[in-house]
Amino acid sequence: MEKLTGKKINTAVFISGKGSNLKSLIKYSKSKYSPIKIKLVISNKTNAKGLKYANINKIPKKIINFKKKFQAETRILNILNIKKINFICLAGFMIVFSKKFINKFPGKIINIHPSLLPKYKGLNTHIRVLKNNEKFSGCTVHYVNSNIDSGKIILQKKVKIIKNETVSSLSKKILKEEHKLYPKAINKIL
Ligand code: GAR
Repeated sequence: MEKLTGKKINTAVFISGKGSNLKSLIKYSKSKYSPIKIKLVISNKTNAKGLKYANINKIPKKIINFKKKFQAETRILNILNIKKINFICLAGFMIVFSKKFINKFPGKIINIHPSLLPKYKGLNTHIRVLKNNEKFSGCTVHYVNSNIDSGKIILQKKVKIIKNETVSSLSKKILKEEHKLYPKAINKIL
C-alpha cells in the first residue's frame, strides 16, 4: 500500500452504543496509510459504552440529546463547522438525519449496516434474517441519503448462516466482518 502524502481528512464518528466499529476505525485512522483523522466522536446517548474509546484515545467527544431533532442537528452542524469536519462515519448511530442535514455534506456521510442491503433495512436485522431461513447475511457500507439504509452501496461482505445460528452468534460473526469492511470501504472512496 502506498503511503498517503496529502493531509488526512478531518472525520467525525457518530455512535449510539457499544462502539466496536468506532474502536476499529480509531485503530485504522492511526495507520499512516489511512486517509482519515478522527477529530470528534458524537453520541446521542450519555451512557453509550463506546464513548470510552474516545476517552482512551483522547478524542474530543460531544453528547447530543436528540429529543428536539432540529435543535440537535443545528448544534451538530455548528460543532462540525468549528472542528472543520469534512467526513462523517456513522457507526451504530441509531438516529436518522433530516434531508436538510444530509444535504450539508453531499457524498460525505457513510454508514455501516448489518445486512446485505437492499435486504433487511432498518432494525432487528438478524432476527428477521433468521426467521426467513436465509442462507447468507452480511454487512454493507453505504452512502447516507435521506431514505433509511438506501444510499449507494460502497462495499459488502457476505457471511454464511450455519445450522443452529442464533442472533448472538450471527451478530458476533457479522461484527467481526464489519470491523474489516468499514476501513476497506473508506480506502475505496477516499
Ligand atoms: C453494528 O452491527 C452496526 O452495523 C449496527 O449497529 C451495530 C453497532 O455496533 N448499525 C445499525 O444497525 C444501523 N442501522 P457497535 O456499536 O459495536 O459498532
